[in-house]
Amino acid sequence: MTPDVQLNPSAAVRTEARRDAFASNLGAFAATVGSAIGLGNIWKFPYLTGSNGGAAFVLTYLLAVALVGVPVMVVEHAIGRRMRLDAVRAYGRAVPGQPFWAAIGWAGFVSAVFIMAFYTDVAGWVFAYVFKSAAALRTGAPLTSATFGALAGGTWEPLLWQALVTVLTCWIIATGVSKGIERVTKTLMPVLFTLLLVCDVRALTLPGAAHGVAYLFRPDLSKLTASVLLAALGLAFFKLSLGMGTMTTYGSYLPDQTRIVPNAARVALADTLVSLLAGLAIFPTVFAFGGTPAGGPGLLFNTIPLVFSRMPAGGLFTFLFFVLSAIATIGAMVSLMEVPVAWFVEKGHLRRPAAAIVTAAIMFALGVLATLSQSPVLADVKLFGKTFFDLFDFASSNVLLPVGGVAIAIVGGWLVSRRSFVEEMDRGYASAPRYERPLYALIRYVAPVLILLILLNSLGVIRLA
Ligand code: PHE
Repeated sequence: MTPDVQLNPSAAVRTEARRDAFASNLGAFAATVGSAIGLGNIWKFPYLTGSNGGAAFVLTYLLAVALVGVPVMVVEHAIGRRMRLDAVRAYGRAVPGQPFWAAIGWAGFVSAVFIMAFYTDVAGWVFAYVFKSAAALRTGAPLTSATFGALAGGTWEPLLWQALVTVLTCWIIATGVSKGIERVTKTLMPVLFTLLLVCDVRALTLPGAAHGVAYLFRPDLSKLTASVLLAALGLAFFKLSLGMGTMTTYGSYLPDQTRIVPNAARVALADTLVSLLAGLAIFPTVFAFGGTPAGGPGLLFNTIPLVFSRMPAGGLFTFLFFVLSAIATIGAMVSLMEVPVAWFVEKGHLRRPAAAIVTAAIMFALGVLATLSQSPVLADVKLFGKTFFDLFDFASSNVLLPVGGVAIAIVGGWLVSRRSFVEEMDRGYASAPRYERPLYALIRYVAPVLILLILLNSLGVIRLA
């Protein structure tokens, strides 16, 4: 039995410095969804699905979201809201006598910087494509793979776009939690859904669209390998912004009346829906026009303009598609930057704008490495056989986030008292909701064991697939 005194930050902590927070349930939902939905849905999910064999990957990903993703999100929100602290201090104080769990927050710091390094590079491409596709609409000159090669493989152009998205994110962060993050995401999310649906209708009414649908939904289980399982698990963490303190930090901004479990379930559902809708816009079009699904990280940028250009009003749809992708990157980047910013503000006693600038500068410094590793300048510099871009991506998604996820599930399921944890999870209900027991079992047993099995499997210690 674990004692009951845990997860009870002292009154002093709860009232320490009046913290900014999300102002409403809807705002909290929009910000959380805004963090989850991003390049992960529109760029990563389609290209990983395409290079990992289609539906078998999608199925594994969906299972990872349900069995691991939602439980870990619930823990992060519950601990975040209970502690009302940045991630480092929240985990450092969640288990009395065991301050070393602050390491979860520190690892999250590193993950946030690693992810932002390559994320701002890709987001920069997306913003560049908004302008390039608008120009193509005007001049009629098509966007080709040479356009993308020149952009991604360039030196100053991608760096300038990367600097631009970094400054934009920094500016939103500096304006504050409820005014900045909440307002921006609440306005942009419905626009995103609408644009995506327009693209889907276009793609699904193409002749031959059914191939693309089957590619996404008819699994061939022989395609499941150790690296496919790890990639799907890593994507679930990346997609739902888990395992690194983002959702803990956002949990600390959740209003007391927000019901954590339904909120987390809705976020996971909306996020999955957007991924699938993005897949439904991309794969039917790829198949209808004879493209290849395994286009790698360039899939979005090479294939979409190419295949869209071969259909009526394709230029317009290309432009719309990149506008919505750009929208999607914003909420995610804001939430990535918020992890270190919250710490700098609360522990480092910096003002928000100063904290945002310091964080952005650190992220940009690593981002330059990621961006230049796509160009001849640093293309040949490899660590562990990977370019900086690939290394930051692999180290965060496939190592740091799942390991952080195990640690978070252990803290939530085993180390803090069940009573206080469940109390926070169930806040807003008069009596224990029906999902309480099965969900607690997922948190305590299923999530950590599954993550560990997949990690050990990928290291070759055990053999699942
Ligand atoms: N979930 C975001 C996306 O899909 C990325 C992200 C990862 C954001 C981790 C915050 C934390 O694009």
